Amino acid sequence: MSAVPFVNLIAQHRGLRDEIAAALDRLVSSASFIGGEAVAAFEAACAARLGVSTTCGVANGTDALQLCLRALGIGPGDEVIVPALTFFATAEAVALVGAEPVFCDVDEDTLVVGPDQVAPRLSARTRAIMTVDLYGRLAPVRAIRELVADRGIHVIEDAAQSFGAHAAARGDARVADAVTFSFYPTKNLGACGDAGLVACADPGLLDHVRSLANHGRQAHYLHGAVGTNSRLDAFQAAILALKLPYLDTWTRRRRQLALRYWRHLQGLETLVPVSADVLRAYAGGAAAEVAEHVWHLFVIRVTRGRRDELAHALGSRGIGTAVAYPVPLPHLDAFKHQGYQRGDFPAAELAAEQVLSLPLYPELADAQVDFVAESCGQILRSS
Ligand SMILES: Cc1ncc(COP(=O)(O)O)c(C=O)c1O
Repeated sequence: MSAVPFVNLIAQHRGLRDEIAAALDRLVSSASFIGGEAVAAFEAACAARLGVSTTCGVANGTDALQLCLRALGIGPGDEVIVPALTFFATAEAVALVGAEPVFCDVDEDTLVVGPDQVAPRLSARTRAIMTVDLYGRLAPVRAIRELVADRGIHVIEDAAQSFGAHAAARGDARVADAVTFSFYPTKNLGACGDAGLVACADPGLLDHVRSLANHGRQAHYLHGAVGTNSRLDAFQAAILALKLPYLDTWTRRRRQLALRYWRHLQGLETLVPVSADVLRAYAGGAAAEVAEHVWHLFVIRVTRGRRDELAHALGSRGIGTAVAYPVPLPHLDAFKHQGYQRGDFPAAELAAEQVLSLPLYPELADAQVDFVAESCGQILRSS
């Protein structure tokens, strides 16, 4: 078997080349490079899909988070609760608006944050909770919302990894005050560059985000606040809009492949897939109903200190892997000044030592998944 790269954007774009070229050609002909029809059409398509009245495209997922925090009036002196295990940008956005990220541990099984993890970190200064749909699994946002009901605490859902998981019929995207997305190229819906989006049920809040993302603009040359330039690029909007109709097919393929991995990997003593509960539900025939996980990453936990050994041995067979994330955020140099100690986040710390992402993307062939899974078995059973 030839190499199995961890990601393969070339394979995805091979099939879309002509459509992308035609869309870009149309855009050049219209010369609508900032805003315009392409951006409006993509925002409307996302709103329909998410079950909200409107959305706002922005330059990237980090800005989406920052702009929501700013629009909610969060800044210096405020605390925002953030999971200890997520991509850096979740906490970075909080620090960038001058607020303090207060880290909480993750659930030891699902690795997402729920009310049990949030509750002990609430204080009189808590202004918001940032939930993260880690690896593509929706966090229990409703339960977190209930926890802070009537306390004036906002909930922002960092859904950078879960576009496609929110069902309009269930109202998933209307639970948090705001839901933010990243369309970084490797995401389930990826741009050919940077792009992001904010969705929220409150049109007033969304207008505020839209204004802040466009220099605090109220009308031509009238500015109500110091904002920034974080507009969604029209080329990216056009590309994202043409990819959007493929997303559900891609997601179904991701789920199929995740289940295929799981079937191979069962019975290995030192390997447990993260979100095995969801996989068990699929295996029990619930595939159509279990819509809350879009398998942005297929992550396994390798116990008994064998994660790095497995990654290395897979690498020598040409199989790409990655670790999301090797260091819990509170232990990164950037947040050292907050004085957290090892042992403060036991679930996140253990996960950081054990997690390994295996290749998972719609273009992957069944045989490639079989090869990766069989290789895991051979390597872990040896010695
Ligand atoms: C959980 C999470 N939050 C935020 C971001 C930031 O998105 P972007 O890279 O588009 O700024 C990412 C993307 O990498 C992410 O995975």
